Amino acid sequence: MAVDTVRWGIVGPGRIAGKVVRDFAHLEGAEAVGVASRSAQRASDFATEHGIARTHDSYGALFADPEVDVVYIATPHPQHRAIALAAIAAGKAVLVEKAFTVTPAATREVVAAARAAGVFAMEAMWTRFQPAIVRLRELIADGAIGEVRAVQADLGVRQPYDPSDRFYDPAVGGGALFDLTVYPISLAQMVLGEPDSVLARGLLAPSGVDTEESVLLTFPGGRTASLFTSLQCLTPGQARVVGTDGWIDVPPRFHHPDRVVLHRAGKDPEEFLAPATGGGYFHELEEVSVCVRDGRTESAVMPLADTIAVQDVMGLVADQLGVHPQEGPAEL
Ligand SMILES: NC(=O)c1ccc[n+]([C@@H]2O[C@H](COP(=O)([O-])OP(=O)(O)OC[C@H]3O[C@@H](n4cnc5c(N)ncnc54)[C@H](OP(=O)(O)O)[C@@H]3O)[C@@H](O)[C@H]2O)c1
Repeated sequence: MAVDTVRWGIVGPGRIAGKVVRDFAHLEGAEAVGVASRSAQRASDFATEHGIARTHDSYGALFADPEVDVVYIATPHPQHRAIALAAIAAGKAVLVEKAFTVTPAATREVVAAARAAGVFAMEAMWTRFQPAIVRLRELIADGAIGEVRAVQADLGVRQPYDPSDRFYDPAVGGGALFDLTVYPISLAQMVLGEPDSVLARGLLAPSGVDTEESVLLTFPGGRTASLFTSLQCLTPGQARVVGTDGWIDVPPRFHHPDRVVLHRAGKDPEEFLAPATGGGYFHELEEVSVCVRDGRTESAVMPLADTIAVQDVMGLVADQLGVHPQEGPAEL
């Protein structure tokens, strides 16, 4: 597909969709042209609020809209699989919110479908596109901290137990794993690659979803990542990448930082300020729009192989914690 203005459709006008859509104001050559909700009223309200021209009262109707090139899937994670498969079958490029799916098998299924159809697909892991994270990768690649040995990261929020809340409801992918732990696992995968072992210990809520966990990943060469996430403890949300010649701090909150700080023995800390544009979602929207315009089927920054690697780790973490996520049906 080669198009001039990349035309986006929004699926699932909830909390995150409302934030992401604001960043289209910063984009050139891309536009949010349509929104689909299971409710005509919600689609219409969202369209009015955000100046979107076309509304659809079903996701399927948006997939059938010839004026839409890319679909942004912002429904709860157990609904991503069915919606992404339907969008891909209709020939649409897809940007799928994190967590991509709730099982590794479903991630492979969506990736296989996109590859077979030759359409673009990407996980909306916005962290990878933050200018400060781009700087982190450059510093590491330049050897600023020598050989990278370890990643440490935490991400905790205080979300008191409420079985009706999305965060604690298994039917909509509740639990720390898919909303929080996906971030430090993805950061570790970005820096260290695929782990050769995964150890996870944590706590379950009465609804059966995970409330809190520590995850230890080991990588070839004895490198490690130690990660802590929680739905019951507020934590700084800080990350640190440690190498043989120093370390780089990614200050809170590390999944959308505005700077990184380089520390080297015998030298003053060096701060690299690199704030995001808009709400920080602009960068992933720009990446997808450029890829689609250029007829590419994957992003080099957030490739599908990395999404599969992250989902494989999450699958092992889920097994070890004793949670049993199920891909849900989606109302199309
Ligand atoms: N990147 C980020 O910073 C970030 C932040 C928060 C969340 N997220 C991700 O974004 C996704 C959505 O999170 P959210 O907080 O925006 O959720 P939300 O506010 O509950 O919105 C989800 C939307 O999905 C639609 N939907 C479709 N099937 C549904 C079902 N069975 N149950 C409930 N809603 C359903 C609903 O829209 P209609 O009924 O109107 O169609 C709803 O408004 C999750 O995968 C989450 O991990 C990402």
